[in-house]
Amino acid sequence: MSFKPSRQMHLGAEAEVWSGSWMGRDAVSKLRRPRKWRHPDLDHRLGHRRMMSEARLLIRLKNAGLPVPALWDLDPEAGRMILERIPGRPLIEVLRDATYTESFIETALINTGAVIRQLHRQAITHGDLSTNNILVDTNGNASLIDFGLAVIDYEVERFGIDLHVIDEILGASHPEHIDAIEQLIKGYAAEEERLGAPAELSGGAVPTATEVLRRLEDVRSRVRYHG
Ligand SMILES: Nc1ncnc2c1ncn2[C@@H]1O[C@H](COP(=O)(O)OP(=O)(O)O)[C@@H](O)[C@H]1O
Ligand SMILES: [Mg+2]
Repeated sequence: MSFKPSRQMHLGAEAEVWSGSWMGRDAVSKLRRPRKWRHPDLDHRLGHRRMMSEARLLIRLKNAGLPVPALWDLDPEAGRMILERIPGRPLIEVLRDATYTESFIETALINTGAVIRQLHRQAITHGDLSTNNILVDTNGNASLIDFGLAVIDYEVERFGIDLHVIDEILGASHPEHIDAIEQLIKGYAAEEERLGAPAELSGGAVPTATEVLRRLEDVRSRVRYHG
């Protein structure tokens, strides 16, 4: 692998991410980190499986034209992926930066909703839709990253949960943007309007935007009721 690291971007519990270049192009290297508390064999198997799953879904989504990083190289034994570096900043930073205009933020949130709907139309749920895993560029366009917990599914529940995760995060971590989730939902619904009814896929029909949004309401009231 000819990745040339330049700067560490992230050191999390699960992964270490470096910014750098690969074949002269802007890239990131994502290196799986061992979990000390797990048995090494089990840890290796789980990490391996997650990275293979992330790689497979990234390829599928890139082929479908979604704004996700291209996978350029993969070494599952070493636990390393080389990905296209997506320009832009995590949504968490954009929402905390008071220098952006309201209208830029609204555009970013509508575009975020649109790409989440694009993802769901591929019968894929993200599994970790935090504002760290959404990147926003200077035009307010959104990309999705970090598919280690993503799965293929056709049941509405997991889609509703996907939206509920970002709903909770927007409410808890970004209370200064009171309309954030409404704007994201507006983009989610508008994307379905724009694209029409979702196509029948090999595994069946994916839940419509209306069905997912109705389920989000159910999940919200369940959480309210049970605390
Ligand atoms: N393809 C990419 N382009 C640009 N930045 C990225 C890319 N992949 C990861 N990052 C940065 O690294 C951080 C951690 O990467 P991520 O894949 O989310 O790992 P983790 O599983 O540890 O959350 C992201 O929040 C983002 O800031
Ligand atoms: Mg992440």
